[in-house]
Parts: sequence; C-alpha cells; structure tokens
Amino acid sequence: MLKAIGGRYTVLQPLGRGGMATVYLARDERLLRPVAIKLIKNYEDSDDIFLFHREARAIAALTHHNIITILDYSGPEEHPAYIVMEYVAGDSLQTILRAMPRFPAAAVMAVIHELAAALMAAHKAGIVHRDIKPANIMLTAEGRLVLTDFGLAKAYKKPEILGKTMVGHITHLSGTPEFLAPEQVVGFPANEKVDIFALGTLTYLLTSGKLPFHRKDTLSTMKAIAYLDYVPLSKLCGESTDAELMRIVSAAMRPDVNKRPGAAWLWQKSDEWLAVRGWSAERVLRDFQLTMKEAEDYEAPPSADYLSSSEITISRDIARPRAKNQRKTLRS
Ligand SMILES: Nc1ncnc2c1ncn2[C@@H]1O[C@H](COP(=O)(O)OP(=O)(O)O)[C@@H](O)[C@H]1O
Ligand SMILES: [Mg+2]
Repeated sequence: MLKAIGGRYTVLQPLGRGGMATVYLARDERLLRPVAIKLIKNYEDSDDIFLFHREARAIAALTHHNIITILDYSGPEEHPAYIVMEYVAGDSLQTILRAMPRFPAAAVMAVIHELAAALMAAHKAGIVHRDIKPANIMLTAEGRLVLTDFGLAKAYKKPEILGKTMVGHITHLSGTPEFLAPEQVVGFPANEKVDIFALGTLTYLLTSGKLPFHRKDTLSTMKAIAYLDYVPLSKLCGESTDAELMRIVSAAMRPDVNKRPGAAWLWQKSDEWLAVRGWSAERVLRDFQLTMKEAEDYEAPPSADYLSSSEITISRDIARPRAKNQRKTLRS
C-alpha cells in the first residue's frame, strides 16, 4: 500500500491549486474521515516555507464557524511541508461565479454578513488576511461560508503571535493586484482595513459581474486603484440594484482608511438588511446554492464516497518547485 503522508493521510484527489500550494482531498487513516491536505509546491523556497508556516499559525490562532479549521501541520522541516484542514465539501466563489456571474442582492448581503463575521474574528485576534478574493472563499451546500487560504496573513498588531522563528526575504506588496487597497499600492502603512477594501471589491464583482480595477496589466490595475478609477456600481447596475447594498459596497471601498468602516459595521448593516426581511444569511446562501445546482452543467464536489475512492500516487511532482517569475501573487 502507498505510504500515507505523515504516516496518516492518504491523498485521494486534487481539490484546487493556488499560487503556492495544491490542496488535495485525503483520508485520515486514524480517524477514518475526509480531510483537506495542503502541500507546499515550492518546498525548497525559504520564502514560501516562511509563509506556509505563518499560514498554519494564523489559522491555528482562529476558531470561527466561517474560518477554516486546522487539524494538523507538519512543521517547516518536512519536505514537502503540509497543513491538514477540515474538508469543506463545497465550491469556491470563483467556481460559483463561473456558473453565476452576477449574484442576487440577498446572496451578496449574505456573503458580506458571513465574511464580515470571519473578519471580525480575525481582526480581533490582530490578524489581517490580505488575500480576500473569490478563490479563497468557499461555500457549502448547507450555505456555510468558509474563509480559507491564510497564506498571506499577517499579525499586524503583535507579529510574535504567529512566531518569529523564521525570517523571510520579502517584498513590500502582498495580495492579488485586483483586490489591493489604495494604501497598499501607494506604499502607505496598511492595517486590517485592506481586508475591508478587498471585501468591497469582491462584493462589487458579485453584484455587477465585473472587477472594478481589472486592467490590461498589473501596473495599470495598480494605477486604477491608486486613482480610484472605476465605474460606480450605481452607474454600472442602475436603479435595479439595492440602494443599501450599493451604500455598503461604496463605504467598504472608501480610499481614506479612517473613513472606511470596520468589519463590525459591515456585519451590522448586512444583519439589519437580512433581519427586516426575516432571513438568515446561511439560509439565503443555502437557497442560492440550490438554485445554482439546478443549472445543467453543475459539477458536484467530491462527496462522502471518498472512502472508496482510489488513492493517487503522491510524488515529488506534486511539490515541484516553480519558477520565480510564475508568481501571480505579490507578497510581503
Ligand atoms: N479545506 C478545504 N476543503 C476543500 N477545498 C479546499 C480547502 N482548502 C482549499 N480548497 C480548494 O483549493 C484551492 C486552493 O487552496 P488555497 O488554500 O487557496 O491555496 P493557495 O494558497 O495556493 O492559493 C481553493 O481555491 C479551494 O478550491
Ligand atoms: Mg488561494
């Protein structure tokens, strides 16, 4: 039989790939349950190992219904290093956007509500996520929203809470260009409000189907962010869009960090909007998922038959180092 990772986790199938790692569905042979295992790709790159280590510590510092739970971590010495997480049987918002390029207002409000709850917990713990975008947010069939990928997370108040055991050689910027905040592109000191701006950009995208700052190259994108050069949601979507939703999105995208609200304000506003209608965010997201799954070309995520799935050969290919210039994500 194939040797399990860490003597415990048998890799079954890939679930998703990001810039730094690949996530697989695996079987925990000790507890006989599905888990997600994230394997670092570039296992000889000290920057990536540093970020991976910080990611494990950041998730471990947070316990919240809307934040991914860590179950195990190999430590930075392992080749390749791995993080074991709860398996989220669902799709990322990026996948969902392909089937549903514009979300109804209720679904956007529900996303704001659940994401704001996750950010409230992270920010309270002094952790800034720094990579809020559709690929890093998952939704289960039950309507649970889960924030994943703390690969760029940073403890902005007390760096020592994530451990200062390793030193990385890192550049100033970090994040995915389209979701950066103005203070990041102009090089001002950034805090937890960068997550709020990214939430604004994300909800603009979910509402209109368009990224406000997507341009032909990274530099033009960053310039557009610095000058706040984007079409307001009201102009793009017109009267049909919910007025309160537009107000929340534009507040989250305020360029002045001091005037940009915190996660608690976003949670409160979306909570009020849902409450007057008698709706719960999770219920809205569950119903939204149901409608989406009725679409013909929907492909379901791997389900409980994982126990009978055949395992895949895990080789060094999985963790093949990647050329430096392949990097899409900027980091610090
Ligand atoms: N716990 C999980 N359960 C199920 N799928 C996951 C889980 N974590 C990540 N994924 C999938 O894997 C993809 C890449 O994971 P991510 O943590 O974002 O990696 P990277 O740091 O390389 O971007 C995600 O977009 C998602 O589709
Ligand atoms: Mg990711």
